[in-house]
Amino acid sequence: MTTTPSEQGVQAQGVSLGMPQLPAPDYPDDVRARLEADAREVIARYPDSRSALLPLLHLVQSEEGHVTRTGMQFCADMLDLTTAEVTAVATFYTMYRRKPSGDYQVGVCTNTLCAVMGGDAIFEALQDHLGVGNGETTDDGKVTLEHIECNAACDFAPVVMVNWEFFDNQTVQTAKRLVDDLRAGAQVEPTRGAPMCTFKETARVLAGFPDERPGAVEAGGSAGPASLTGLRLAKGETTPARVVHPRASGGPQDQPPAEHLSSHDAPQRTSASDPAHPAGPVSEEGE
Ligand code: FES
Repeated sequence: MTTTPSEQGVQAQGVSLGMPQLPAPDYPDDVRARLEADAREVIARYPDSRSALLPLLHLVQSEEGHVTRTGMQFCADMLDLTTAEVTAVATFYTMYRRKPSGDYQVGVCTNTLCAVMGGDAIFEALQDHLGVGNGETTDDGKVTLEHIECNAACDFAPVVMVNWEFFDNQTVQTAKRLVDDLRAGAQVEPTRGAPMCTFKETARVLAGFPDERPGAVEAGGSAGPASLTGLRLAKGETTPARVVHPRASGGPQDQPPAEHLSSHDAPQRTSASDPAHPAGPVSEEGE
């Protein structure tokens, strides 16, 4: 049989032609029984079973670390959907991983604000430090690095997320230390939210099962002061006028932040702490 040049090109890229893909293999009996019991518990929370698809995708992701064809077939079976319908959802949302990945999904925000505040530099430094590119995993299977879009935490820019937990105000140094600690198995706490756990454990919580680690539920956080000021302004409230003396000591900028800071947070850099860059716009003429 002869093949056309275009077919040869496709085959060279490892794409099979002609034969349809074989059905996904099923889970082992014990795994399937356990997942079915969990899935039924999730499905019972919704008036329409298909509404449980998102948590069920997290559930199968908690089993294998990513959404496999077996997992999608399982979701389709449990919800009486087609695998095409499940695939359409699983491939739309970036929280569902499609290939084996690390215990810790380290996402560096490289959207505009974080990028100019240092996110681009952090992402480049982590690529060099870990020896992986975007979407790739370290050899020890611990860290998958990716660049991500805005996490709605711009007032803490530049932001890094690990398994969806926030690490605020990062620098190249703190981000390197963060991934080193994750790879070494050290205790790592995010700036806000529950203590770190693995991606699989996180996926199970996202599927709707309780986080039973001590203190995990109580741990929390709030939006930052800049976000809350914006919210008050948007609601039509006025904020009290205040005078800020950037280089004076004893002002509000000298007070320690009220929120818990992670040991991986960088010191808060403000214009007051950086005399080389005083606050306020400076024109080319120096006004
Ligand atoms: S730009 Fe990074 S959190 Fe918004």
